[in-house]
Amino acid sequence: MRPQNIIAKKRDGKNLNGEEINAFVSGVTDGKWADYQTSALLMAMFVGGLNADEQNALTEAMLNSGEILDFSDIEQPKADKHSTGGVGDKTSLIIAPLVAACGVAVPMISGRGLGHTGGTLDKLESIAGYNVNLSTAEFKEIVKKCGFALAGQTADIAPADKKLYALRDATATVESIPLIVASIMSKKLAENLDALVLDVKTGSGAFMREFDDAKNLAAALCRTGNAFGVKTEAVISDMNQPLGKFVGNALEVFECVKILRNETDAQMLRTLELSIELAARMLVLCGIAETIEDSKSKIQKVLESGAALEKFRQNIECQNGDAKICDAPEILLDKNSVEVVVKAAKSGFVNAIDTLAIGAGVSKIGGGRIKVEDAIDYAVGYQCEKNIGDEVIAGETLGVIFCRNNAQAELIGEKMRDAYKLGDEKPAEKFELIMSAVGQKHSE
Ligand code: URA
Repeated sequence: MRPQNIIAKKRDGKNLNGEEINAFVSGVTDGKWADYQTSALLMAMFVGGLNADEQNALTEAMLNSGEILDFSDIEQPKADKHSTGGVGDKTSLIIAPLVAACGVAVPMISGRGLGHTGGTLDKLESIAGYNVNLSTAEFKEIVKKCGFALAGQTADIAPADKKLYALRDATATVESIPLIVASIMSKKLAENLDALVLDVKTGSGAFMREFDDAKNLAAALCRTGNAFGVKTEAVISDMNQPLGKFVGNALEVFECVKILRNETDAQMLRTLELSIELAARMLVLCGIAETIEDSKSKIQKVLESGAALEKFRQNIECQNGDAKICDAPEILLDKNSVEVVVKAAKSGFVNAIDTLAIGAGVSKIGGGRIKVEDAIDYAVGYQCEKNIGDEVIAGETLGVIFCRNNAQAELIGEKMRDAYKLGDEKPAEKFELIMSAVGQKHSE
């Protein structure tokens, strides 16, 4: 099947059949399709869209381009959570131990941060010694031993996605719902799950800024997951402000350990609330709890008893990290970092926060990557002190920059301050954390 013919068919607005989509994906995987041909078809798909059959065929072909994990020797139900990415989004590190402590296996394949969004693997690597580069056998062994493992995508999982994603990034074809769905779901379906909960973010720090786009993406992800036999549901959550107290790798792990130690403070509450919501849905989908309410009370128990913290400790030990952070989370904080306060220039109410600017500021001083190959400074970040709706007085603290020197604080200080849009009135919009849910129906 000649690539030119497949490209021309899609270019001319026709639907591709499964055979043509398989030919495309195997051509990408084995290198028979040139990058310019792949890019041309991606653009035709981006412009023309894909119908449900095409989208499912693309997902299946990408899934089958690599290995599908075999967990047949693990008795517990298997579930995962995937987030579309945000600023201060650290819930994976809380959800995995909570859900594992309730008897569900969590094989969590995660990603690295790029641009203004953080990545779970980078956060974990701020724990001294923690190894996220696991072979498939090691990954499975750790899931078996402690209930969850957190690792990067190996070369064997959905290799077609790796190539396609790099080309999409370089050809402005990332923001297409069917292409995003096939990319995310080919990796998640390779985990051979019983259940999947998606956290689709919307707002000023999200990939999908508009609620309707987030809802459409959530619905498409759920349709695909359920079509492949994985009980899938999605929560649409607010990313109009950073999630929780800290943004930045080691600082975010610190927040998670504090939460697992039941030392949650007011600014960390939204992190805990979202983690419990997503974890509760995972338990219900796995049949461990009948209702969300029942599920939340199970989760509360493993949190309060310290069982979830013990799961996290066990996992850190299995992945060669320094588990002492569970007893003394302050170890995560670099004593040499400089803390610089960001102050409000005037009085008023926080009407909006440019969350992307906060994430980009942290990236700029080394907390994230602008290019894939950039190194990370785990210690730098930002502490959020004010949320949307809060009243501030001129000169009051909006947040604190954790950096290496004053020059870094000067570089981003003004942008961090200007990220807070202050008005004379309290904003009418409340920005609920959990905006909507898509997928299965439960009694709440
Ligand atoms: N995350 C992915 O894994 N793939 C996409 O296409 C977009 C976000």
